[in-house]
Amino acid sequence: MTLLSIRDLDKSFAGARALGGASLEVRAGEVHALMGENGAGKSTLIKVLAGVVKPDAGTIEIDGAPVAIASPAEALRLGLRFIHQELSVVPHLSVAENIFLGRDYPRRWGVWIDWDGLNRRAAAVLAGLGVSHIQPARKMARLSVGDQMLVKIAAAFQDASLEGGAPARLYVMDEPTAALSAEESQRLFAVIRRLRAAGAGIVYVSHRLDEVMELADRLTVLRDGSTVATRDIAGLQKLEVIELMIGRRFAEGYPPRLAPVSDEVALGVEHLSTAYLQDVSFEVRKGEILGLAGLEGAGQSEVIRAIVGADGGHDGAVSLAGRPVRIEEPVSAWQKGLAFLPRERRQEALVPSASIAGNVSLPHLDDLVRFGLVLDRAAEAEQAVELGRQVKLKAKGPRQKVRELSGGNQQKVVFARAIAGKPEVLLLDEPTRGVDVGARYDIHALLRELTAEGKAVVLASSDLPELVYMADRVIVFRDGKVATTVSTEGLDQAGLAALCFGAPAAPSA
Ligand SMILES: Nc1ncnc2c1ncn2[C@@H]1O[C@H](COP(=O)(O)OP(=O)(O)OP(=O)(O)O)[C@@H](O)[C@H]1O
Ligand SMILES: [Mg+2]
Repeated sequence: MTLLSIRDLDKSFAGARALGGASLEVRAGEVHALMGENGAGKSTLIKVLAGVVKPDAGTIEIDGAPVAIASPAEALRLGLRFIHQELSVVPHLSVAENIFLGRDYPRRWGVWIDWDGLNRRAAAVLAGLGVSHIQPARKMARLSVGDQMLVKIAAAFQDASLEGGAPARLYVMDEPTAALSAEESQRLFAVIRRLRAAGAGIVYVSHRLDEVMELADRLTVLRDGSTVATRDIAGLQKLEVIELMIGRRFAEGYPPRLAPVSDEVALGVEHLSTAYLQDVSFEVRKGEILGLAGLEGAGQSEVIRAIVGADGGHDGAVSLAGRPVRIEEPVSAWQKGLAFLPRERRQEALVPSASIAGNVSLPHLDDLVRFGLVLDRAAEAEQAVELGRQVKLKAKGPRQKVRELSGGNQQKVVFARAIAGKPEVLLLDEPTRGVDVGARYDIHALLRELTAEGKAVVLASSDLPELVYMADRVIVFRDGKVATTVSTEGLDQAGLAALCFGAPAAPSA
């Protein structure tokens, strides 16, 4: 039975077409994946359905009846629930208040808000997701991005028996797992399957193809704002999906290494310790890619953050090309020739209201100032154009505001900035998360070029094939310590997974 039918949506922003002939049909009781490259129009289509963006043309029907969705309240009333790609949380309110935002709070004698009752209800909603580690009374701002995402998911899944409203019929999730660990993702999938079994429709957006193939029943592919295909997942090959998305043949794989690793050490880390990390030591040579692996939160991100001074002090020594350095905060890392790509890029690294060029040059302003006085705007724009080309940025030009870009293209801006300062060492935390398959390949190719020029790369990733194929060696972390260091020669994905889970070191080390 067709639950939702979207036909021929058009939407342009200031003359630039985001959607043109976008259609989507979702049945009750199915998980329907919405796929497409960065900038294909997925989030825009979702925002139209949510009453956030007004379309220029097109129709929406629910249960065969045309509807006009002029506001988010209207969408809620129609039984639609959304988890948007940008997390919109109210940081100074509590977890419980964020969960019940815009809903009716429980009250005592119909007057005073029953805070205990509210917190109890929030705890129950979170428990439904298998989440017990988040306190309902905590301020949202104090949570990690992953935990904030879990709260938003809980908010979308809460009991939908709203005053006068329809129960939830359709859940729309725009990259819900981008900030979640593997375990949290699995819990989310269990909830999604329960909702599907109960007859709800689910629209699911993700750039993780394996996840989509596991979870979805059907998929619809958008390319440049138009629907190009809808298919059953059963019998479909991953490669076919990729080719539908990019509209051409695609050779799956990884770019080959271009030059051998040198003997010179680019980055040395000795006895690094923080509140969590214990005595971490390693060296990275010029031209080398050193992978950091482990279960979520085992120390991979912490090492990178400690080196650039992101979370306060650490013990131990860091040296660049043999010279000791001490970096107190990430901004000063750039001047020392270290580029840092944080995992939570959009929150931590971007000024959404500034232009692409402004964001790219942010930590490199010294290089762009002429006669020590004026910022060379032409040079700034030129640099942004060149880097944008290298990372295949989809944008109108260097002066476009970052908040107008699609999620994946915002991430590319941060990557462009990382390479803009011509760093000697790149510290990259999940550099390909949220970017589409084509852009992922381009980033990998760029890493090969950079290492061929003698740059050193530290690559923290939860994507095991990425580590196995791109890295020369991999350090496996466990509980804040180095468990083992292995060469990737002869190592496969299963072997690396076993090491992350604590199997004894493979003989290839
Ligand atoms: N408010 C806006 N102003 C101008 N352009 C916009 C705006 N919102 C979206 N766009 C443009 O519309 C196009 C589609 O963007 P959209 O966010 O829908 O892509 P997406 O498929 O969700 O991509 P991603 O996988 O990167 O999240 C992009 O070219 C984007 O720059
Ligand atoms: Mg998007």
